[in-house]
Amino acid sequence: AVDMTTALGAAPIPSPVLTASGCSAFGQELDPFIDLTAIGAVVTKSVQLRARSGRPTPRMAETPSGMLNSIGLQGPGIDGLLADDLPWLAERGARAFVSIAGTRVEDFAELAQRLRGVPGVLGLEVNISCPNVESRGEVFACDPVAASDVVAAVRAAADPAQPVYAKLSPDVTDIVSVARAVTEAGADGLSMINTLLGLVIDPDTMKPVLGGVTGGLSGPAIRPVALRCVWQVHQALPEVPILGMGGIRDGLDALQFVLAGASAVSVGTAVFNDPTAVARVHEELAAALAARGFGSLREAVGYAHR
Ligand code: DOR
Repeated sequence: AVDMTTALGAAPIPSPVLTASGCSAFGQELDPFIDLTAIGAVVTKSVQLRARSGRPTPRMAETPSGMLNSIGLQGPGIDGLLADDLPWLAERGARAFVSIAGTRVEDFAELAQRLRGVPGVLGLEVNISCPNVESRGEVFACDPVAASDVVAAVRAAADPAQPVYAKLSPDVTDIVSVARAVTEAGADGLSMINTLLGLVIDPDTMKPVLGGVTGGLSGPAIRPVALRCVWQVHQALPEVPILGMGGIRDGLDALQFVLAGASAVSVGTAVFNDPTAVARVHEELAAALAARGFGSLREAVGYAHR
């Protein structure tokens, strides 16, 4: 059998396949379908300091090639997460990779501080790339300096044992410069990519489908964009661990991300059609690696560059 073990920063995980932030909430809905302890980790919906109700509906729309969302960071807030969701995951022995979001550098630092030493919290994904904010100026990941300020503050406040991954946006002209900046600021790894800013207009109402706003595009439509980002960043920064995501539906999709340089992957939008997708992609990736003669996942990471 292929050795599928990998790590997020220095934290070992038994599988390279994780949920993607925002697509499986805090794991409860997947629990009837898959063994949450067998997947790499549950990457939680981004949490903020206070509970938020998010944008008014409609806030999700399917397109033939992907899904558009403008959820607006709905969530229980850090108190609810610490009181209910994280204990629920820890009781089951599931690993949580907690996505954190905020509007100020200090928000991120406080969240990291509150998550220090919490049982079951493997590490943090720093969401500096949500496209559904009031202005582009609020997307930290669009500016290398703003992105590094957040990451440096989180790395300083976080538990040293918890790896810190920065989640990057594809809506930049040079993702490598953002990746380099956040790595120099202390990121232990990079999550790529958040959704790509998109828009669908309803020909009947003649207005944008998501309550008049743009949205984040996910699913198969963005897979080549995500793969290109992983490829470019691994080429420039081969030592930096990458958690790859963007339209992964099956083992061969996941394989492409691994060959491009990802040492782990997240499966997001695909779970809406198949709640077993995360576990299934693990099995399919293992079979695909075996069929190509790999004895371990690690041997395949970045293979396409060699
Ligand atoms: O597409 C996204 N939607 N990305 C995020 O980071 C947040 C989310 C939302 O809540 O709107």
